[in-house]
Amino acid sequence: MISNTMKSVISNNSIIRAMFEEGMRLSKIYGEENVFDYSIGNPNVEPPESIKKVINEILNEETPNYIHGYMNNSGYDDVRDDVSAFLNKKHDLTLSRNNIVMTCGAAGGLNIILRSILNPDDEVIAFAPYFGEYNHYVNNFCGKFIISPTTPGTFEPDLKALSENITSKTKALIINNPNNPTGVVYSEEVIQGLANLLNEKQKELNTTIYLISDEPYREIIYDDTFVPCILKYYNNTFTAYSYSKSLSLPGERIGYVVINTLMDGFEEMTSALKVANRILGFINAPSLFQRVIAKSLYAEVDVSSYKKNRDLLYNHLISLGFECIKPQGTFYMFPKSLIEDDKKFCEDAKQFNLLLVPGSTFGCPGHVRLAYCISYEKLKNSLPAFDKLAALYNLK
Ligand SMILES: Cc1ncc(COP(=O)(O)O)c(C=O)c1O
Repeated sequence: MISNTMKSVISNNSIIRAMFEEGMRLSKIYGEENVFDYSIGNPNVEPPESIKKVINEILNEETPNYIHGYMNNSGYDDVRDDVSAFLNKKHDLTLSRNNIVMTCGAAGGLNIILRSILNPDDEVIAFAPYFGEYNHYVNNFCGKFIISPTTPGTFEPDLKALSENITSKTKALIINNPNNPTGVVYSEEVIQGLANLLNEKQKELNTTIYLISDEPYREIIYDDTFVPCILKYYNNTFTAYSYSKSLSLPGERIGYVVINTLMDGFEEMTSALKVANRILGFINAPSLFQRVIAKSLYAEVDVSSYKKNRDLLYNHLISLGFECIKPQGTFYMFPKSLIEDDKKFCEDAKQFNLLLVPGSTFGCPGHVRLAYCISYEKLKNSLPAFDKLAALYNLK
């Protein structure tokens, strides 16, 4: 018999995955080219050409033990040296290998952080809309997941509500910048406001509140948007980074966590994360891809094709009368649903072979998420389906 907790997880299984599977079912009936699947954030832009070259170079030039062996559970020392040097140069920091733990993507990173800091019933806050897996990650370690609202119209943190939600049980706040599902990027002012509030609360409650910044979309930004380096604003900070989106390598499970040197109990925390990597069964981040990443720190995917998609889709939705914030990053858009019931709206969209994800999946009903990491051709061909959807509700 499976556990009661897994029973409940299974019965509420991911709507995103269900939509993705529905997309495959519809493709068999109507043809793949006639189904417009905006459900899943699987990057459609190819990884940089250089990745293949680097993999071949490593395989041809290095010994198998160097490539495929076990290493320190934090990751290869030289890889962590290279990652920290890269971050120092990029953000003007003074990190060393001791600040870095290589991880199985951002998901692996978030789980080792939460494993390291949570006691049962500790509270972890996230802003709605939030990435739906956070809830599970917090539950993995018997924490309590607390949802705090964002400000309607901007999706930026509502600091007054956050202040009311912070208690002596609050162990961490998870933010996601750039944000899935809204595409919003928090400015320096927003980050500073958050940092000030957390510092005040730490003093008032005499507790440590960790800020966990989940940043897999850091490089997927448009229009010269600036993404502040969170480590500079708040001492008790972790960042969870990943190459799943920034280099289109989601299946390779590679990323890292940065632990701020100024964190309370820094040394002990680095040991905790390293051991968490081991005892959660990750052992270490994939060895070949640690090596690949060390040689690809300056590689980039073609973000301009996501931007082209964003512009076409955003302008079309606005012209139809949808309400939507223009995304400054990621490859997601989060317009208002045309009816209050976002789940029904997504069901209705299916009749035009449009697969959208209800905002309630992200703790924000009344909206829908569109993952526009699909080909430009497909996106263009999907526009008449949005016209029909708008007409269904007599929009305009
Ligand atoms: C906000 C956010 N965090 C974390 C993840 C997990 O990413 P990874 O593949 O790096 O584990 C995702 C993946 O979609 C995401 O959107």
